[in-house]
Amino acid sequence: MVPPSADFIAKAHIDAAGYEKMYAASVADPAAFWAEQGKRIDWIRDYTKVKDTTFDYGQVSIKWFEDGTLNVSANCIDRHVATRGDQTAIIWEPDDPKTPAQHITYAQLLESVSRMANVLKAHGVGKGDRVVLYLPMIPEAAYAMLACARIGAIHSVVFAGFSPDALANRINDSEAKVVITADFAPRGGKKTPLKSNTDKALFDCSDKVKCMVVKHTGDQTTWIDGRDIDVKAEMAAAKPYCAYTEMGAEDPLFILYTSGSTGRPKGVVHTSGGYLVYASMTHQYTFDYHEGDVFWCTADVGWVTGHSYILYGPLANGATTIMFEGVPTYPDAGRFWEVCAKHKVNQFYTAPTAIRSLMGMGPEWVEKHDLSSLRVLGSVGEPINPEAWNWYNTHVGKGKCPIVDTFWQTETGGHMLTPLPGAIPTKPGSATRPFFGVKPVVLDPANAEVKTETETDGVLCIADSWPGQMRTLWGDHERFQEAYFAQYRGYYFTGDGCRRDADGYYWITGRVDDVINVSGHRMGTAEVESALVAHEAVAEAAVVGYPHDIKGQGIYAYVTLMNGVEPTDALRKELEAWVRTEIGPIAKPDLIQWAPGLPKTRSGKIMRRILRKIAENDFGSLGDTSTLADPSVVDELIENRMNRG
Ligand code: WT7
Repeated sequence: MVPPSADFIAKAHIDAAGYEKMYAASVADPAAFWAEQGKRIDWIRDYTKVKDTTFDYGQVSIKWFEDGTLNVSANCIDRHVATRGDQTAIIWEPDDPKTPAQHITYAQLLESVSRMANVLKAHGVGKGDRVVLYLPMIPEAAYAMLACARIGAIHSVVFAGFSPDALANRINDSEAKVVITADFAPRGGKKTPLKSNTDKALFDCSDKVKCMVVKHTGDQTTWIDGRDIDVKAEMAAAKPYCAYTEMGAEDPLFILYTSGSTGRPKGVVHTSGGYLVYASMTHQYTFDYHEGDVFWCTADVGWVTGHSYILYGPLANGATTIMFEGVPTYPDAGRFWEVCAKHKVNQFYTAPTAIRSLMGMGPEWVEKHDLSSLRVLGSVGEPINPEAWNWYNTHVGKGKCPIVDTFWQTETGGHMLTPLPGAIPTKPGSATRPFFGVKPVVLDPANAEVKTETETDGVLCIADSWPGQMRTLWGDHERFQEAYFAQYRGYYFTGDGCRRDADGYYWITGRVDDVINVSGHRMGTAEVESALVAHEAVAEAAVVGYPHDIKGQGIYAYVTLMNGVEPTDALRKELEAWVRTEIGPIAKPDLIQWAPGLPKTRSGKIMRRILRKIAENDFGSLGDTSTLADPSVVDELIENRMNRG
């Protein structure tokens, strides 16, 4: 165990005894606890009801602070303008380090968000309308999200690495009125053509969808008069103030699509009041955020991490938050540390995959920079392996910064398991203990019973609701109940396996469903399979994850070709490129094995357990293969396996 230093504890919001006491209170009487915590944000009309939630399958319903009203943008901006209008709200650090950073104050943020809101209103966007954002990491992305929140529109951010097809699906599923994009997205010195991708996507959407374009790089793009809108020009001409709309606590704030184990991506819905209370509280306690701190979360706003910990949590707390357009290795492997030194970052939050890739380039890149401002280091997205943890601790934290390994999900809105840095001694690789109000339980997957012993393992479920929890899947409450509440009745099922040690610490062991985690990003194996079989040469495909040194998990695809199609290296390259364009670069298979046959049961079900073992290069223990229709395919697959590492 690595305890925080006495120095750190002295300045922290909460120590070990404080955590135990507050946690006990939070689970003993959640309504009383959250009634008090709800006061951390400003309400237009105070709530009288705090918690109205049930996890009963068939009637799942989650409401927090339901009769309160508020506006999220007013909480993130207006209420700080009076007291700290000249304080920097957002530091924008561009891709190219030679371009100066922008420091956007709370007063300036109010003006830009207002202008953007007025532009949206002028184009007919109002309360409850959906707006899809497909943007680089630029200030306009923050303006757009907050402008939606200001007028009660529901934003749905699509990561700029996704393909036109993926974008079209999300615009259509959410029935968005407007998509906001940019000309190009610079990243690591390369430019992604977002406008041209959006043009392609809009071919498959209603012609009523308007396209707002941020001219960011200024490079030339196509322009469709009557449909395309020059956002910056219209913002400049718009009124500099926009009044905010009074919203119910349970009005949706955003939809964020994420991969599930089956079918199309799911539109996770978060609402306004509970989400903001939870994002704000977790940001404060997990990172031990104090007034005046500079906070940097390196995620993209296309993921939930960017929503909760670049934007909503930090801004609700009046923090200075960094928005970084680039990548960790451009122009060199010292970029993260250069930015930390330049802006005197106090809390730094990134993913294990980034740490592993930087670790491989040597500590000299870190040592060049003055990291003395750092106090807390965070990790998110996947389990952090002890080697990466130790490197992070030694070279970045100099042994003085507690590491908070935060386990959570798109669905949970904010941290679920995490050390609080002044209160909970860490262990490399463990997300340690639950956040306030979170009741983790370990269930036996064989019989769905709760395991009561302290030291145990099984699947991770949560026994009761917390304010940051998703409320439904967009337009499909039934799928919501099926996906999260059907398998283990009465509980929210995370989809993760876990172990609890003798100290009551939790260790996440990874997904137990057909979701894989590639560089901290979630990918449904079914999505990659359906992209592969959409290619004319492919008859059948089965996709599994396998351990990958940098990415955590890599994508391993078994592909059966159509009769008469030759398996060549050129075809392999073509299929890789195909998946990139169908879904996006993050879905590209790392290894493709030609599979003349797949291991199936006599009823035709693919036995993925066997495919996983072969992909892991662990075929000595395949278990029972006697139920296979044709056991000989297994020998063929082992013989020609692609991962021999
Ligand atoms: C899945 C959620 C919201 C965080 C960004 C990813 C895995 C996340 C950890 C961690 C071990 C982790 C889980 C989870 N995961 N954080 N600290 N330790 N595993 O959000 O795309 O919704 O993915 O990421 O498997 O279920 P997401």
